[in-house]
Amino acid sequence: MMKKINLAATLLLLIGSVSCAQSPKKPMAQLINDEFKFATDQYQVLAKNIPAGKTPQSFDKGKSINYDIKWWCSGFYSGSLWYIYEQTKDEGIKQEAEAALKTIESNQTYTGNHDLGFMMYCSFGNAYRITGKPEYKAIIQRSAESLATRYRPAVKSIQSWNKSKLWECPVIIDNMMNLEMMNWVSDNGGNPKYKEIAITHANTTIKNHFRPDFSSYHVVDYNPQTGEVIRKATWQGAANCSAWSRGQGWALYGYTMMYRFTKDEAYLKQAKGIAHFILNHPNLPADKIPFWDFDAQGIPFAKRDASAGALMASALLELAQYTKGNEKTEFKSAAETMIYSLSGSAYHAKLGENGGFLLMHSTGAYPLNSEIDVPLIYADYYYLEALARYKKWYL
Ligand code: GLY
Repeated sequence: MMKKINLAATLLLLIGSVSCAQSPKKPMAQLINDEFKFATDQYQVLAKNIPAGKTPQSFDKGKSINYDIKWWCSGFYSGSLWYIYEQTKDEGIKQEAEAALKTIESNQTYTGNHDLGFMMYCSFGNAYRITGKPEYKAIIQRSAESLATRYRPAVKSIQSWNKSKLWECPVIIDNMMNLEMMNWVSDNGGNPKYKEIAITHANTTIKNHFRPDFSSYHVVDYNPQTGEVIRKATWQGAANCSAWSRGQGWALYGYTMMYRFTKDEAYLKQAKGIAHFILNHPNLPADKIPFWDFDAQGIPFAKRDASAGALMASALLELAQYTKGNEKTEFKSAAETMIYSLSGSAYHAKLGENGGFLLMHSTGAYPLNSEIDVPLIYADYYYLEALARYKKWYL
């Protein structure tokens, strides 16, 4: 009986590589071109499903799911549209991107969570990069000031969620992503304090969030007065001691990005360590799209998280820019496998289906029974970013 189960498990783990081998791969240049064309059409379907004042999040059981602008994902829709516009110059997409920015503009003064970087930099950051409009820059600067209000000097970190029955001063690994906006504002004429906060936060996170194998805890809860660690735990992972896949992706992306802004070798070492943890993990499937947690129960039957795969692909493409030789080849080729997997029929929606989202099979918060095996807007965002990065750096 055990032998039969093992055989089934082995076959399932091989499925990724089997499906990759089924048809000859499109050259990457053509794939990227086709994907941005497809996204232009598919996002017209998505745009029709969004009520005024909301931002798209997912699609489940035939229904579009849209959230309030204070939700951490509110910047990914406009950010995705800007990535599409940058490649296609489609005026309809640009108009939709501008309208989506208007919807979330008031978030610039929001101080209720740590997600301002996701919300305002993935959106306005891309808009400013592409258009150079000074009003977009001013909004990013204001957003950095709002995020800085959550910096806790005793903890030497930006507080993620507010105090609750469960937590005193929680900091989650995802918070590394919000540092991009802080670095950028200081490096582009803003107050240097934002970059100082980013560096201090990144150093505290290296000290307290990681295990010796470079895997990361999801949440570290601190005493806000003394900065002492109260406990290390999870919220979206399988267990306190597990490696929640998207969290490993945020860590990988976060330290690669910190190296971009600082050239501090400690961040590069951290990013490489995380990359090796992910890529050498025995539970990483052959198609390199992770299960929702590297330690999820039921592997290889556990659900995947395409958003983690997309995010890791984008981060690995950047990390490969900062590495040489075998490591560079390893990171770039892993990202290529992820992109090819995501663009294949196992993860990629057909035109008009999937509520207008590009990718299927992401997992938001498995232990909370929320967003399991569904499209998620940020999976699309990081997939489009990975395609754009590949074109810019490797073609
Ligand atoms: N930042 C929240 C998440 O990754 O689900």
